[in-house]
Amino acid sequence: MPPTVLLLAIHVLVAVIWVGGMFFAYIFLRPAALTLETEQRVDLWFETLSRFFPWIWGIAVIAPLSGYALLFALFDNLEQTARYVWIMQWCGWTMITLFAITFVAFYREMAHRVKKRLIPEAGLYLNRIRIMISINLALGIGTVITAATGRFW
Ligand code: HEM
Repeated sequence: MPPTVLLLAIHVLVAVIWVGGMFFAYIFLRPAALTLETEQRVDLWFETLSRFFPWIWGIAVIAPLSGYALLFALFDNLEQTARYVWIMQWCGWTMITLFAITFVAFYREMAHRVKKRLIPEAGLYLNRIRIMISINLALGIGTVITAATGRFW
């Protein structure tokens, strides 16, 4: 397999895992979890996010690395880069920044409170995480559409 094809495969795969994971969480798991009592709901989300977020840290490294490797393989220099790749690049960095803020400012605080069984306080941080994920989900969907259709406009 040529290196560019492999890079594109890795890049698209991590994008699908990230955006698809957020879509599943927001559209399917959230309404299902709302049927639970607060304590069970907070525990379910904590157990889910503590498995999802380490993957996103990996993706936050692999997506830009594979993206820039592709960029320099497909375009001679940054000035020649297509507009849709610029949009993807900046949406990507915004998503990574929002994820890092979510993890450091909200998820870690939530984790402390879950461990101390301060469930209502943990729920407040969970709500902030939900808002951040909804923003990143919208950005991620926009980024995938831009990336896949950009060559036609
Ligand atoms: C962070 C910096 C990023 C850079 C530098 C970057 C760069 C690139 C480049 C150069 C391509 C190949 C474009 C082409 O084939 O014409 C590409 C493809 C793609 N990127 Fe990114 N990307 C980044 C982040 C992201 C993110 C965050 C997502 C989605 C959440 C994403 C989704 C995609 C998809 C779906 C494609 C495949 C498009 C297609 O060939 O149909 N990228 N990216």
